[in-house]
Amino acid sequence: MQSVDQLKELHRKRFAAEPAVFAAPGRVNLIGEHTDYAEGFVMPAAIDFATLAAISPRNDGRVVLWAENFSEERTFPLASLPGSRTGEWSDYPLGVLQMLAADGHPIPALSLTLWGDVPLGSGLSSSASVEVATASAVTGLLGIKIPGPELAQLCQRAENEFVGANCGIMDQFVSANGAADHALLLDCRDLSYRLAPIPKNLALVIANTMVRHSIAGGEYGTRRAEVELACTILARHRPQIRFLRDATIADLERWGDEIPEAARKRARHIITENTRTVEAARALETNDLARLGQLMHEAHVSYSRDFEASCAEADLMVELANKLHGLIGARLTGGGFGGCTVNLVEQQAAQDFKVQLAANYQKQTGIHPEIYVCHASDGTRRLG
Ligand code: GLA
Repeated sequence: MQSVDQLKELHRKRFAAEPAVFAAPGRVNLIGEHTDYAEGFVMPAAIDFATLAAISPRNDGRVVLWAENFSEERTFPLASLPGSRTGEWSDYPLGVLQMLAADGHPIPALSLTLWGDVPLGSGLSSSASVEVATASAVTGLLGIKIPGPELAQLCQRAENEFVGANCGIMDQFVSANGAADHALLLDCRDLSYRLAPIPKNLALVIANTMVRHSIAGGEYGTRRAEVELACTILARHRPQIRFLRDATIADLERWGDEIPEAARKRARHIITENTRTVEAARALETNDLARLGQLMHEAHVSYSRDFEASCAEADLMVELANKLHGLIGARLTGGGFGGCTVNLVEQQAAQDFKVQLAANYQKQTGIHPEIYVCHASDGTRRLG
C-alpha cells in the first residue's frame, strides 16, 4: 500500500505543488448480481483496496494526468479536452471531467496523480474507484460538495457515455457511499439504501481466479440485452413491468413460453436474485448466518446455471470453498465470466481457509490464485 505521505511526495516532485489527497474504494458484491440495471436490489461492501487521487491546481491552462501504476502521463489543453474516448486509462478521469463540465462545473487547470491497489480486471471495480476518486478530487479542488448518490450517478454517466461501458449504478454507488464494517443494501430503483453491519467475527475473503474479467467485453452486454428482451415480452402482458424488478416468478410461469430460452433463464435469475438479496440483508441484520450462507450458495448456482455468467474456474473456487472449515457462504462476485469469488468466513478460520483454498485451487488448475482477506471500508473521503 502506497501511503498518503508517499503519494504526496511523488506528486510534489512531479508537479512542484502541494496536493490534497482523496481515496475511493473498490467493492465486493455479497449478493445481487446484474440486478442493478433491472432496477432491483444489490448488497455490496466497499473494501480496503482503493484508488488514491492527489490533486493540485495549475496556472498553464492544462489538465495533466499521471498514472503511477503505469508510469504514464497524459496532458490535455483545458480548452480542448477530448470529447470522446481514446481507449486509454485516461478515459476514466477524462469522462468524469466531462460529466462535471456538462453539469455546469467549470473545470480548472489541474495536475492529478492516480495510484491504486484494486486488482485490475478482477471484478472488484477498479474503474469505478478511479472515477469516484477523480470526482472527489476535482470537486474538492473546486470547493464544492456533491452528495454521494449524485456523485455516483455522475461517475456512472462517465462510464456509460464516455468510456462506453454500459454498467449499472452498483459499483460507483458503494464506492461513494460505503461504510466501514457494513454492507450496503441498495434499491437501484430510487437509490434508497441501508447499511447492514457485518459481524466483527466474520472476514471477507476474496479469491481471485486469475481469469480476467472485463465489462467492456461482449458478454456483459449480451446478458443485459437478454434481460431487457425478457422484460419487454412480459410487459406486453402486464405493462406495469417496466423493469424485471417488477416481474414475479408467477409472471414467468404464465408467459415464459413466449420468451426465448436463454432470456427466460436470465429473467429467472434476476427475479429470484432480487428476492434473495432482500432476504440476505435481513439475515445479516438478524445475524442469521446459516440463512445468509445458504442464500449466497443459491445465488451462485443461479448465476452459474441460469445466468450462465460463471466459468469453470469460478465454479471450482466456490466448490472448494464449500468444503473448508469456517465458511459461511461463497459465490462468484461482480460482472461474471471470471474475476473473484467472495467468501464470508469466520475470522478465526480465515488464515487457514486462505492457505488451503489457494493450495487446493492451484493443485487442480495449475493457476496460483491471489487471495485477499479484506474488510468493509468507508466510501470516498479526503485523506490526511
Ligand atoms: C459490473 C457492473 C455493475 C453490475 C455488476 C453485476 O460490476 O459495473 O453495474 O451490473 O457488474 O452485478
